[in-house]
Amino acid sequence: MSKKFYITTPLYYLSGTAHIGHAYTTLAADVIARYKKAKGFDVHFLTGSDEHGANIEKVSAQVGKTPQQWTDELASSWKKLWGSLEVEFDDFIRTTEPRHEKPVQRVFELLLEKGDIYKGSYEGWYCLPCENYLDEAELVNGKCPLHDCKVEKTHEDTYFFRLSKYQQALLDYYEKNPEFLSPKTRSKEIINFVKSGLQDTSISRSKVGWGIPIPGDEKKTIYVWFDALLNYATAVGLGAKLGMPEGGKLAGGKNFDEYWPADVHLVGKEIYRFHAVLWPAMLMALGLPLPKKVFAHGWWTVNGEKMSKTRGNVINPEDYARDYGVDVLRYFVFREVPFGNDGDFSDAAFAQRYNSELANSLGNLLSRTLNMVDKYIGGKLPGDAYAGGELYRAVAARGAKIDAHMDALELDRALDEIWFAIAEMNQAIDKEKPWAKAKTDPAGLEPFLLDLSAGLKQVAVWLTPFMPATAAKMNAQLKAPRNTAEKMPPLFPRREAAKPQK
Ligand code: MSP
Repeated sequence: MSKKFYITTPLYYLSGTAHIGHAYTTLAADVIARYKKAKGFDVHFLTGSDEHGANIEKVSAQVGKTPQQWTDELASSWKKLWGSLEVEFDDFIRTTEPRHEKPVQRVFELLLEKGDIYKGSYEGWYCLPCENYLDEAELVNGKCPLHDCKVEKTHEDTYFFRLSKYQQALLDYYEKNPEFLSPKTRSKEIINFVKSGLQDTSISRSKVGWGIPIPGDEKKTIYVWFDALLNYATAVGLGAKLGMPEGGKLAGGKNFDEYWPADVHLVGKEIYRFHAVLWPAMLMALGLPLPKKVFAHGWWTVNGEKMSKTRGNVINPEDYARDYGVDVLRYFVFREVPFGNDGDFSDAAFAQRYNSELANSLGNLLSRTLNMVDKYIGGKLPGDAYAGGELYRAVAARGAKIDAHMDALELDRALDEIWFAIAEMNQAIDKEKPWAKAKTDPAGLEPFLLDLSAGLKQVAVWLTPFMPATAAKMNAQLKAPRNTAEKMPPLFPRREAAKPQK
């Protein structure tokens, strides 16, 4: 049986439509999932929507809809978006589904019985958009530093999760599992945060109606993060594991233990702490194994500025996909920025990479190779078991490094390596000057041209997780027997316009 690989994205808030930041996390998960599938893993790729909380209540009320109507509409439009970006997820979980809500309530009961959830009271400041309490010290000019909005003085009975109890266990886990906090650059911040002392955290809300009711105290609802984090487990049958009939049916008759623990939770840096501290502590309280890795990627700015509706600079991934093609978007975001770092999105950078790396380096390499193959050696292409000459072997030898980068989630470095191979082949053509040799000995060009074609086939394999449609086009053109009479359109026609048409 093949080894399983379970990867997740965060569950997106359905407060609006998706932008490039959301697409980034999901596309990364898709690239990794496709890569692992190609390597023979039994991949389970989960995404979904985070549908409870006061923000959703507010947004839906503004458009005169119930939260249920609103989230139904939005969830289907987000699903459609992922489809249009060639995202092949295996499951999409909505936190309003019974397969999620029921086990979340059960978890609450179990931890209450165990004493890891207890009732107390809270006095402090509440930020509505954060759906969270803030300490006096966290306020800036009396306002929430993140939303720059007023906060409300609050005193209420609440349920606490005994996070403090897991401080040492978390530190031990980080130490014994150095891969857990990824990339390495993010681990220090988390370790210092945990070392500085963990406080028990409030996990109930009395002012939020649109949420999962607390069993036995139904006027209160469960804090959205406590609710949402559990999706990673409920989606793969936590309910059934806890002996509940609503556990949900899993594909292929699988059960919770076959999927859990997750191999990678991919998240943006701003929600890393929830995933690296609260979530593992919740799992420890439940006596469940911890995920193998939580990976935080960086944030996109646009032309050096924070992306925001008020600035009007929000990048809609569909505009770029429509205008340049989905693959170009998928390529750009992982090529432009080391995975894990912050990065800047600009039309100029997008157009520049398109023209120089896709149209010129890759597109031209394919068309010049195939033109020569057709003209000089009658369309002959290498067979599947091609051993190759020096050039092909040098290209293929990069495979080991590419695999290592992919396994380490260094997506940018894998792409670098692929483009080194492309550059190597372009340079070999410039050096070999086949058009000169063709005048005296065209048949003598055969080994060289077979190497180039085989190298390009290899590039197509490496590119498949990033650029599935491009790889398929390359494969179609590189497939024997070639129809030398048929002119193929260029992979990436050169273009002048820097800005996509909206
Ligand atoms: N609902 C929570 C997650 C719960 S997971 C149990 C949430 N949702 S979100 O809709 O705000 O989306 C979060 C994801 O979008 C994160 O991975 C985040 O990093 C990503 N991005 C949102 N804006 C972004 C940028 N400007 N740049 C890169 N990614 C960003 O948080």
